[in-house]
Amino acid sequence: MKAPPDPAPLIEIATAYWGSAALIAAVRLDLFTALADGPMSAAAVADALESDPAATDALLTALSAMDLIEKSPAGYANRPLADAWLVDGRPGFLGPALRYNGDNYPLWGDLDAVVRAGRAHAAPDAYLGDDEARTRNFVYGMHHRALGVGRAVASVIDLAGRERLADVGGGPGTYSALLTQRFDGLKAEVLDLPGVVRFSRQIVASMGAGERVACTGFDYYADDLPGSYDCALISGVLHREQPDGVKQILTRTAAALEPGGALYISDVMLDDDRAGPVFGAMFALNMRVMAHDGRCHTVAEQRAWLDAVGCDVVGTTRLPAPINYTVIRAEKRR
Ligand SMILES: C[S@@+](CC[C@H](N)C(=O)[O-])C[C@H]1O[C@@H](n2cnc3c(N)ncnc32)[C@H](O)[C@@H]1O
Repeated sequence: MKAPPDPAPLIEIATAYWGSAALIAAVRLDLFTALADGPMSAAAVADALESDPAATDALLTALSAMDLIEKSPAGYANRPLADAWLVDGRPGFLGPALRYNGDNYPLWGDLDAVVRAGRAHAAPDAYLGDDEARTRNFVYGMHHRALGVGRAVASVIDLAGRERLADVGGGPGTYSALLTQRFDGLKAEVLDLPGVVRFSRQIVASMGAGERVACTGFDYYADDLPGSYDCALISGVLHREQPDGVKQILTRTAAALEPGGALYISDVMLDDDRAGPVFGAMFALNMRVMAHDGRCHTVAEQRAWLDAVGCDVVGTTRLPAPINYTVIRAEKRR
C-alpha cells in the first residue's frame, strides 16, 4: 500500500500564526525599539517594557529563533531586518502597518463564518472613520507602507507635464505628496472618506506638501469627482470591490478625466487565469475579512472595464515582493 503523504506541511500551516502573533506582540510592546541601542539582558528588556520577566524571556527566545533578534553572551540585540524596519523613529518604520495587521488578526480567526455568510465579520466602517484609533492605525499604516516599500509604486508613475491629479481613495495622501514633489507643476487632490482625510491632511502637511495637495471628503459610491483632472491614480482601492463597484469607480473617474488624461491603477492583482499567485490569492481572502466586497482583479478584467469607459491600457508593470503590486497605465481616448 502506498504510504500517505507526510502531514508535516499541514501542521506547519496550522501553526503559522504563532510567528505572526510573536512579531505583532513584539511590535505592540515596542520591543525592537527598546533593543535599538545594543544588547540587553532579558531582565533589562522586561524592565524597559514593564512586562513579566519570564514571559518576556519566552518571547525573546521565539524572536531569536525566528532570526529577528540574536542572542549573545551580552544579551539580545536586533538583527538587521528588525533594525531597519521595526525601530520607531527610523525612516522605514513599519510599526503602524504591522499594528494594523494585528488589528485584523482576530478577523481571520472567523474566516469560516465570513465564507459562510459572504460578509465581512466586522464592519469596515470601524477603520474608515468610526473608530478613531483604528482609523488612525489604518491611515498611518498605509502612510508608512507607502513611504517605505511603496515608494517603488510612485517611481513607475510618470506624470511629467501633468497638472491636476485626482488621487481616488488616496488614503494618507502619501503618493500624492511624493508625486507632487517629483513632478514640477503637478497639484493633487486626495479624495477619500471624511473620517480618513482628517488624518491625510496631517500627513500631507508633515511631508511639507500641504500647498500642492488638497484633501477632500468624498465617497466613491455616492459622489462624482469634484473637479476636472488630466491624470488620476487609483491605488490599493479596487481590491475592496466586486466588479460592479470597480466599474462604478472607473466610470466616475473616467468621466472627470480630460481626453488624453492618464489613469493609473496600482493594486495587488491576480493572474489572468485567476489561479494565483499565492500572495494575490491570500490578499484577496484578506480583503474578504476586511471589506464586504473584497476581491482581487486580473489585468485582463480591468482592461475590458477600462475599455468600456473609454480608456485604453498602454502599459503594465509588475512589482515584485514585498510590494506585490501591478501598475496599469491607461489613457482616456481623445
Ligand atoms: C488600501 S487604502 C489605499 C490608500 C492609498 N490610495 C494608498 O495606496 O496608499 C484604500 C482606500 O480606499 C478608501 N475608501 C474606502 N471606501 C471608500 C469610499 N466609499 N469612498 C472613498 N474612498 C474609500 C479607504 O478609506 C482607503 O483610504
